[in-house]
Amino acid sequence: MSLSLSSIRERWEATAGADPLFDTGDGANCPDQPRGVRGSHSLLLDHGLIRIPLSWPPRNAAGEPIKTEFTLEIVKDPAGCNTSPTYGMKSATPTVSVYRRPRMAGNLRYVTTSFSLSGRFNGKTGEPLAIDPQTGKRVGLPILSDARHPTLEAQARDAVLTHLRGNGAVTDEQIRQIVDFEGQVYVAQQTHRVGGSLTGLNAPPALGPMALATGKSILPGNNWTTPVFMSFDSWREPAGETQEQKDFRSSVARGYDVFFVRPMWIRDVAWFTSIGMGNPYKRTCAICHSVHLAGNNISPGLMDLGVNNPPMAPLMPDLPVFRVTCNKDALPHPYLGRDFVTHDPGRALITGKCMDVGSLVMQQMRGMSARAPYFSNGSAKTIRAVVDYYDTRFKMEMTEQEKQDLTNFMSVL
Ligand code: HEC
Repeated sequence: MSLSLSSIRERWEATAGADPLFDTGDGANCPDQPRGVRGSHSLLLDHGLIRIPLSWPPRNAAGEPIKTEFTLEIVKDPAGCNTSPTYGMKSATPTVSVYRRPRMAGNLRYVTTSFSLSGRFNGKTGEPLAIDPQTGKRVGLPILSDARHPTLEAQARDAVLTHLRGNGAVTDEQIRQIVDFEGQVYVAQQTHRVGGSLTGLNAPPALGPMALATGKSILPGNNWTTPVFMSFDSWREPAGETQEQKDFRSSVARGYDVFFVRPMWIRDVAWFTSIGMGNPYKRTCAICHSVHLAGNNISPGLMDLGVNNPPMAPLMPDLPVFRVTCNKDALPHPYLGRDFVTHDPGRALITGKCMDVGSLVMQQMRGMSARAPYFSNGSAKTIRAVVDYYDTRFKMEMTEQEKQDLTNFMSVL
C-alpha cells in the first residue's frame, strides 16, 4: 500500500516508462519534460518522489489568494519546474513544485487519530482545531505531509482531480467507497529474512497486521501503560531456529529499548521544542512517534525536524532550493529566523506563515522495510540512514550496537 524505490524501478524497466506512474503530471520532474526519457523522471526514479504542484501564493477555501508572510525566491532548480515558463513560479498560474514521498494507504484508523482537548483544541499547542468545511466539525490535521486536506474524503476528491487527472466527475458515493476501502486495510510486516515469522506464539504482540486490525487506535503510546509497540520481552531470551535468528530477535528487543527508553537532547524542532516545553528537551524517540501501534505523532499538528533545511538537511543536490525571506513584522521561524533556504517550505505553502516553513506531518512507522526511502523528501535511503540522521542531528552518540539494534527493530514493524 505504498511505493518503494525498487518497485518504481521495476515498473520503469518492465513497461519502458509506459506505466501510468510515469504520467508527466506528477510522475515527471515537470510536465513540460518528454515522457519516457529517464532524465525527465529522475526524482521519481532516484528518490521515489512525486511532484506536488501548489498554487503560489496559497489560496483559501474560497479560492482567493492569501497574503503570505514571506517571499520565495528560487536559488536552484535542478528539476527545472519552478523556473518553467509554463508550470513555474512566474507562469500564468504561478505554481511552486515540491517533491514528496507518497504515504502509506493503510492503518488509517491510527493515522487519522489525534489527541485534542475537549475535541476543540490542539492537544499540543492549545490552538483551536481546524474546521472541516464539509461537515463543520473540528478535526486534527494528521494526513498528508502539509496537512492541506482535513479529511480522507477531501484528500480523495483532490487526488482524483490532480494525480488521476480526473474531470471532476467523481460522485460522493465513489468517494465514500474509496474511504471505506482504505479504512479496512491493515499493513505490517509478517516475516523477516533472518527473524523468521513475526507473528504467532511467542512473537511480540504488536507485530503483524492482525495487531493493527484488532488494536485500539486512540491511545497515546509514550507511557508504560500503553507503550507504542507494546512489549518485546518474548524476544529477549528468544526461542529461534538458529543462533542467527535468536541473535537477531534479541537485537530487535534491545532496539525497541533504544527507541522507547534511551533519552536524547531534542533540539531546535519548530512546533515541538518551540512551544514552551524546553529547548533542548530530554526525551526518547517515542515522545514524537507516539501513536500506539503505529508510531506517528498523536498531537494534531506538524513540526520541523529539519530534513529540508540545509545545512541541517541531508545532502539532496537534485531538489530545488528556495530562499525564504520573511516580513519584518511576521513571527520568525524559531530557529532559522527570517532569512534562510529550504528544499520544501512544507506547511507554510498552505498557511503562508513564516513560522510554519519546513513543518510537516510525520509518517507512521509500519511496513518500513517494504517502502524505502524515508522522510518526506526520500533523503534517507535505508533504515540505517534514518538512524544515522538522528544520531548526528541530536548528537546521540549511539554505539554501533545501539545503531544496529535500532535499525533491526524498525525493520520488522
Ligand atoms: C522531535 C520529534 C521527533 C523525534 C524525537 C524523533 N522523530 Fe522521527 N520523525 C519526526 C518527524 C517530524 C518526521 C517526519 C520527517 C519527514 O518526513 O520529513 C520523522 C520521521 C521519522 C521516520 C521516517 C518514516 C518514514 O516513513 O519516512 C522514521 C523511521 C523515524 N522518524 C524514526 C525515529 C527514531 C528511530 C527516532 C529516535 C532516534 C526518532 N524518529 C525521533 C519527529 C521526531
